[in-house]
Amino acid sequence: MRPYNVYPLFDITPVRAEGCYLWDEKNVKYLDMYGGHAVISIGHSHPHYQKRINEQLKQIGFYSNSLKIPLQNDLAEKLGRISGYPDYDLFLCNSGAEANENALKLASFFTGRKQVVAFRKGFHGRTSAAVAITDNPAIRSLLNESDDAVFLDLNDYHAVEDVLNKRETCAVIIEGIQGIGGIYLPEIAFLHRLSSLCRTTGTLLILDEIQSGYGRSGQFFAHQHAVIQPDLITIAKGMGNGFPVGGVLIHPRIEAVTGRLGTTFGGNHLACAASLAVLEVLENEALIAHAAKHGEILMAALKELPVKNIKVRGKGLMIGIEFPRPCKPIRQRLITEHQVLSGAASNPNTLRILPPLTIGETEIEQFLEALNKVLEDE
Ligand SMILES: Cc1ncc(COP(=O)(O)O)c(C=O)c1O
Repeated sequence: MRPYNVYPLFDITPVRAEGCYLWDEKNVKYLDMYGGHAVISIGHSHPHYQKRINEQLKQIGFYSNSLKIPLQNDLAEKLGRISGYPDYDLFLCNSGAEANENALKLASFFTGRKQVVAFRKGFHGRTSAAVAITDNPAIRSLLNESDDAVFLDLNDYHAVEDVLNKRETCAVIIEGIQGIGGIYLPEIAFLHRLSSLCRTTGTLLILDEIQSGYGRSGQFFAHQHAVIQPDLITIAKGMGNGFPVGGVLIHPRIEAVTGRLGTTFGGNHLACAASLAVLEVLENEALIAHAAKHGEILMAALKELPVKNIKVRGKGLMIGIEFPRPCKPIRQRLITEHQVLSGAASNPNTLRILPPLTIGETEIEQFLEALNKVLEDE
């Protein structure tokens, strides 16, 4: 048997990681400007994270949700306080797609409607409902096609008004910042309009903060730059710093009905310990302010790059660099000639930059130097 290949593979085998760096089996050192797919929030192999997980494993690693798991209460309390949503409920699961799947289900139960409005270039995961509302037909099987999924352009005020005013939509789902699509930001005024339209039409607003949350944008959630209050917020990626966890923050008016949502692994002891360790480090090391500051430094430097026709988009440490042509060769040369990892996007011209939130000025300089050298002879 062989592992099923999910992505085109680079010929690199990381065996060790620390902070913003990885080492392969030949001890070659790589700078991680991709955060392992926007997952590494507090840096690789953080000592507090390792200690918390190891200590938990010595006590109890797993038991099912049929018995009490007080660590879930600790996690909900801490996440509620740090994120600014202390009165929301927290459903715990294992991945981003699963979080969106459950958020959509809750919205449909709550409203008694089934149409979902999503946005072009958006990505919400590969499970049944999540892929139905993801703007990528290539990853959607016939079984996942749905007439209830309506795709609109991001920041198209008239289109959302027209659809929502029909009062047939159960939820609008929107990324805090569109990630995989190529780093596209919803306008603040658009989020305000969406939020008030949802309120007046009985539609729930789901903020997918799976990639843009956990401090990446310089606020705990990217939508908090707009000061709106969604009904449901989905999280994963940076939440576990590599431990597979996900969750849904649920507005208190959406009543928890026992048995409606469920999971075997979600909220287990080890997952809670990992998630608590992440929040403790985010708080103790003031990493969200750090991400805001270093995001500004990086963005300002990128805007000064001596290259014509490039566009730089983003917020905090979630940055897209769009070139006038496909950037695969640039990404490739960054790796092979300068040992710098970056991310692709479904827009082939865009390089995605999502480093650990712990990134410092030395790493930023190393990245800029590498990028400059690659661009010099492109
Ligand atoms: C915005 C967004 N939503 C959902 C997902 C799906 O998350 P997962 O791969 O954990 O299922 C992703 C993954 O990249 C994402 O970026």
